[in-house]
Amino acid sequence: MNLIPYARQDINQADIDEVVAVLRSDYLTQGPVVPAFEKAVTDYCGAKFAVAVNSATSALHLACLALGVAKNDIVWTSAITFAASANTALYCGAIIDFVDIDPKSYNISIEHLTEKLIKAEKTGSLPKILIPVHMCGQSCDMAKIYQLSLKYGFKIIEDASHAIGAKYKHEFVGNCKYSDITVFSFHPVKIITTGEGGMAVTNNPCFAERMQLLRSHGIQKDLVDTTLCRAEEVWNYQQVVLGFNYRMTDIQAALGVSQIKRIDKFVSDRREIAKNYDLELSKLPLLTPWQNESCDSSYHLYVIRLELEKIKKKKRQFYDELIAKGIQVNYHYIPVYRHPYYQKMGFSIDYCPEAENYFLDAISIPMYPTLSENLQKNVVRVIDEVLSS
Ligand SMILES: Cc1ncc(COP(=O)(O)O)c(C=O)c1O
Repeated sequence: MNLIPYARQDINQADIDEVVAVLRSDYLTQGPVVPAFEKAVTDYCGAKFAVAVNSATSALHLACLALGVAKNDIVWTSAITFAASANTALYCGAIIDFVDIDPKSYNISIEHLTEKLIKAEKTGSLPKILIPVHMCGQSCDMAKIYQLSLKYGFKIIEDASHAIGAKYKHEFVGNCKYSDITVFSFHPVKIITTGEGGMAVTNNPCFAERMQLLRSHGIQKDLVDTTLCRAEEVWNYQQVVLGFNYRMTDIQAALGVSQIKRIDKFVSDRREIAKNYDLELSKLPLLTPWQNESCDSSYHLYVIRLELEKIKKKKRQFYDELIAKGIQVNYHYIPVYRHPYYQKMGFSIDYCPEAENYFLDAISIPMYPTLSENLQKNVVRVIDEVLSS
């Protein structure tokens, strides 16, 4: 039986040709294509600077470091996200905490965030950084989050791993109008891909420079400090801080340069599929994704909520039956604090009630640009069958 995957990349001959051209060129990494891809992304989303890296996880880590996250600083993120949004703060020695989600958008809840900030101000435990996550490709309400950041003095990293190509208030996510740094992922399930890959974009030259330094071992080439050098020595690079090898290769960037040329088509295909699903699935005992009027989602994911009181099944059974019938549904996501690693930190099992409700009945169904109308119909038919059996 052929499984319909929940996501898949779309690679064409032009993508292959771009990658092959790099393979035949002088540089497989650290050549001209990474900066070309960075420029293509900043031109697209409207930020001033970009730092391409080998994953969004690396980009989040560098973003935290560029904003000065260090031991015992407090970082907050959404309870419903991929663990990397939280893990990267822990890499810096920070203390992580979670904000509950909005039951309609599944993004960080502005109400819960506000309440938590009021309490934290009283106890002297305000966050240094907030990492809002644009779940499924729908932007968080960034203007409100930005206002709160001014009031309570925290910085913002947008985790836009799902959301390149999405818009907030008619402007592309990634313009960093309401944040310090925005991060994209180019994993194959995402909107565009470089195999593995990620990027941090910002309007702040100091943050960009810091992230560039840290992505390549903390080594600088242009500004050699000669005070510690003997006169007869040749120094053409120096390590000045402890960095990492988080570099993207030119091979990966070539795929990115080619993919971003088709981003508008990828996103419009996803929106078309979402429209069809909205229409067909609204007849079934489930909730289709609610959309905020200020947002144009890139629809990285299409998450349905089962109306459990109207059906005879639990989510577990629904999930197993769909997989058995060839539809690769998925969970996005397990509340981060429920993972054993986070449970050991002492988060209670019901730490964020809305995230718990979501986890009980939310399932991602297949969503990718090449999902044909026939396959979409197949997905809807099988969901209907499983819900009514
Ligand atoms: C919300 C979110 N943040 C971060 C990441 C990490 O992305 P990457 O796999 O590029 O490191 C993902 C990946 O799925 C994600 O969904």
